[in-house]
Amino acid sequence: MKKLVALLSAVAVVGVTYKSIAQDMTPEEQAAAAVDQRKSLFKTIRYNLGPIVGMAQGAPFDAEVAERNARRIAVMATMIPEMLAVDTSAFDNIETTALDSIWSNQGDIADMSQALIDNANVLADAAATGDMGATLGAVRGLGGSCGNCHDTYRVDTD
Ligand code: HEC
Repeated sequence: MKKLVALLSAVAVVGVTYKSIAQDMTPEEQAAAAVDQRKSLFKTIRYNLGPIVGMAQGAPFDAEVAERNARRIAVMATMIPEMLAVDTSAFDNIETTALDSIWSNQGDIADMSQALIDNANVLADAAATGDMGATLGAVRGLGGSCGNCHDTYRVDTD
């Protein structure tokens, strides 16, 4: 019982803290937090793509890692439209490479995110069979789904 009370009060404290942080944030701080959040998602997606690209470039093939990471990417990609729904263009001193065309092309963002989900699952399904050729053959399609969106909706940083 003591444990339960402690747990409940911990939950309450976290809830209150979270709420007051969100309420106390200025619009600029909220925009900065949204940008931070979306960059974190993309960095974590890249973290999972890295080993798959490595295998395509000659690192030892590991079907389990390829499948696991591709499934992770497919799940994380479901969050992309949500992460790219907050128009953060009002604040010039927030560092972002997101282009303003994103905010008026949400349907396209959803389609491109879905293409990434589909291509990640194609690779995961191939990896699940253990077929190295088919798995590595799907890498270009997966990477292409990143490139398509970056080419259209991100400042060219290359
Ligand atoms: C539907 C569009 C879309 C798709 C699909 C997409 N990205 Fe991005 N990505 C963006 C946008 C927009 C940004 C810019 C975010 C910012 O600077 O605010 C970005 C930024 C990034 C960044 C830089 C994050 C940072 O710290 O600045 C990385 C890394 C990245 N993407 C990796 C990937 C990888 C890998 C994939 C594919 C597996 C992918 N992205 C798919 C739109 C997309």
